[in-house]
Amino acid sequence: MLRLIYYLALAAAPAAAQTQDARFFDERVAPIIERHCLGCHNEELKNANISFVDRESLLHGGTRGPAIIPGNPARSLLIAALRHEGELQMPPGPPLSKKDISVVTAWIKRGAVWGTRLHKETTPQK
Ligand code: HEC
Repeated sequence: MLRLIYYLALAAAPAAAQTQDARFFDERVAPIIERHCLGCHNEELKNANISFVDRESLLHGGTRGPAIIPGNPARSLLIAALRHEGELQMPPGPPLSKKDISVVTAWIKRGAVWGTRLHKETTPQK
């Protein structure tokens, strides 16, 4: 019996981590994207041919190629843009707060797990 419980716990662990990461996205990351990025990168406008409404769009990326490499923020174009490290600086104008940048960085490091808050039907906030 104990052994059964042990195996059940093992099987449940990855699912729990996934849920936790999805919640991290919905509560911490999605609000940043909604507020600062979605106005220009949505299904209608697609600035630089990239929309931020789902994970696939970011993995596929825009005219420059993939915007995020899950697990590897240092090689993710999106992070370089947020940090104003290169020619591409996002959002245009003043950079995000250090805290917001670290939240997005942590999210990519943890595998860039998506939640339910942003999807194809999400419309940008006016
Ligand atoms: C005011 C409109 C606007 C906002 C807000 C904005 N972007 Fe952009 N974004 C653009 C434009 C325009 C380009 C194309 C720039 C270029 O090609 O030089 C672009 C390009 C990009 C690219 C490169 C895509 C590619 O493959 O060429 C990334 C990544 C990106 N933005 C991320 C973001 C992120 C992350 C945010 C939010 C923090 C954001 N953008 C907010 C207008 C915007």
